[in-house]
Amino acid sequence: MSTEQKPVENLTEEEAAAALAYLAAEIARNDALYHGKDAPEISDADYDALKRRNDAIEARFPALIRADSPSRRVGAAPSETFAPVVHARPMLSLDNTFSQEDVEDFVAGVYRFLGRLPDNSIAFTAEPKIDGLSMSIRYENGRMVSAATRGDGTTGENVTANIRTIKEIPQTLPAGAPAIVEVRGEVYMAKSDFLALNAQMEAEGKQTYVNPRNTAAGSLRQLDAKVTASRKLKFFAYAWGEMSDMPADTQYGMVQVFKSWGFPVNPLMARLNSVADILGHYEQIGLQRPDLDYDIDGVVYKVDSLELQARLGFRSRSPRWATAHKFPAEQAFTRLVGIDIQVGRTGALTPVARLEPITVGGVVVTNATLHNADYIKGIGNKGEPIRDGRDIRVGDMVIVQRAGDVIPQIVDVVMEKREPSSVSYEFPKVCPVCGSHAVRDINEKTGKVDAVTRCTGGFICRAQATEHLKHFVSRNAYDIEGLGSKQIDFFFESEDSALQIRTAPDIFTLEKRQQASLAKLENIDGFGKVSVGKLYAAINERRQIALHRFIFALGIRHVGETTAKLLARSYGTYNAFEAGMKEAAPLAGDAWNDLNNIEGIGEVVARAIVEFYKEPRNTEVIAKLLEQVQPQEAEQPVTSGSPVTGKTVVFTGSLEKFTRDEAKAKAESLGAKVSGSVSKKTDIVVAGPGAGSKLDKAREFNVQVLTEDEWLDLIGG
Ligand code: IVH
Repeated sequence: MSTEQKPVENLTEEEAAAALAYLAAEIARNDALYHGKDAPEISDADYDALKRRNDAIEARFPALIRADSPSRRVGAAPSETFAPVVHARPMLSLDNTFSQEDVEDFVAGVYRFLGRLPDNSIAFTAEPKIDGLSMSIRYENGRMVSAATRGDGTTGENVTANIRTIKEIPQTLPAGAPAIVEVRGEVYMAKSDFLALNAQMEAEGKQTYVNPRNTAAGSLRQLDAKVTASRKLKFFAYAWGEMSDMPADTQYGMVQVFKSWGFPVNPLMARLNSVADILGHYEQIGLQRPDLDYDIDGVVYKVDSLELQARLGFRSRSPRWATAHKFPAEQAFTRLVGIDIQVGRTGALTPVARLEPITVGGVVVTNATLHNADYIKGIGNKGEPIRDGRDIRVGDMVIVQRAGDVIPQIVDVVMEKREPSSVSYEFPKVCPVCGSHAVRDINEKTGKVDAVTRCTGGFICRAQATEHLKHFVSRNAYDIEGLGSKQIDFFFESEDSALQIRTAPDIFTLEKRQQASLAKLENIDGFGKVSVGKLYAAINERRQIALHRFIFALGIRHVGETTAKLLARSYGTYNAFEAGMKEAAPLAGDAWNDLNNIEGIGEVVARAIVEFYKEPRNTEVIAKLLEQVQPQEAEQPVTSGSPVTGKTVVFTGSLEKFTRDEAKAKAESLGAKVSGSVSKKTDIVVAGPGAGSKLDKAREFNVQVLTEDEWLDLIGG
């Protein structure tokens, strides 16, 4: 009798484990056939029988319940089964702040951006950051018409039927509410309901859930809304999307209106004026945190005035007028068993702690960053003692901290547990990969020794070279499928000239070199005819590439995806970008100013780019690469209808209605490029009182000159 038919009472433990593995796979396969392809292979009764058998075996052998068990899958329905909903206004996320200093910076930044406002004149709201999932609920003519999850911020999932089962959320709005209303907020599960649900699961011999947030998400994304109804989800309203009319002109006022319409709103929301009061409220909420019946992970601060919110506007993914002040991370003790040194793309030697595995806030941690040599010694970034100067030694009991998705770090040492025989850690003086000297640079600007120790091997260092290549093919750069970390190592190490990939252009000549060679890639272990064909196709597909991906792929220090996008947008074509960088080399003059004046690019980044182009080895590799690939012209942002889209604008003299930052941000949001210097390429100069040489230059080049008011008329602001 096969294990699949044997009565549950007769199964041995080993057979039960095998049966559960089989059932998990078989039920998942049938789920996919049923939901995804609408082509079930078995009858509903047979399907139910599989599930019942799974439950029965799990009840008898609770220790064998699998992580992928069908009984554990709350949200069994794959997301494709919910219809997509495009949000009328994007659902953004929040920037995080972690310390009092960060909060002071946030508030100071708001004042700086708006300019000329007296101290403490800007009110902020402070309210708990609920650990649930955000939801946008739309009402038309007073009736709920749809509800959608956040999704990627632009498109969410239609979960209207499920949201209708949440009793706390009104189905209709009172007379007098605007015709179109989108209320946004957080769906969550109360801690007490979560515990009760888990007690019930346990009593039924089922696997318990991990945390209220995941349970809420799983309970909501149920194709059968009856399941959602049984789960007692709750809601707090704190924001909005499209509104045909604004019923209030402050953040606080809006939330009070939501309350008057019947939405639950958080009682701990307050309106405050000074940083001290804001931080005081954060402390208060922190003290109440353990007693609240819902999970929170911080406090959200928002500028109260909606007029000021509008002036502050947004960065790419988050508003300038809000921030989330997170509570301190979770910590745990464990032993530091070793320190490894990783060599990165830019040669930085990063010490990585190897730990005895430990669970921190529900996640098993085995590695943590130790940042740099000084950090291990107990010295901070500014040369100040940290941890009261305590160093970190191999063998020590250490405190590991994990905050959100950030890499775990070691924050302290338990001195009482230190072995008397322990010795301080010696940071390597040579690169552990290539043996070149490892040095700490002197920072040109500050004259201080850099915190980072770098390998001086450059291109001869295998770690730097392979990390460069791995970055080049990574998902947000060239994204070449079939060319992962393992394959790069293989091609890099190969001694066969028809296989070797040492620099990026080699990737694109691989197929040609292979054609002329007898030693075929497809005969090598790990590759086959099909996978080799796919690899070449994936490589060839990338010969045309978006300019920002190309720039990001070059691996220039400090040039991440966002900076690459700014550069692509600003220069338009690769040739213009490279020409600009070469011209900017003296770190002075128009080309240098053009680069520095791009909003979002500071001097450190600008320097790094210019330095990169000074190195002949880099430009040689790029020239070879350009024989193989064509970066595309950058797409200009779609701000159709704006009279300044694509125009280069310079602000000079003193502005009276806006700060320089605000004017810049506004112009850029309308698709203009803002530069700090006037050249023949400038389209508009906005000149305020006191304008000097830039105004003269504008006249010399015949550039259109506007007053601040004329500019405002032009952009309709
Ligand atoms: S305001 C434009 N307020 O946090 C800003 N968000 O990290 C809109 N969240 O996606 C968000 N509590 O899911 C806001 N009181 C609160 C919040 C809150 C929780 C979530 C929300 C958002 C995420 C951002």
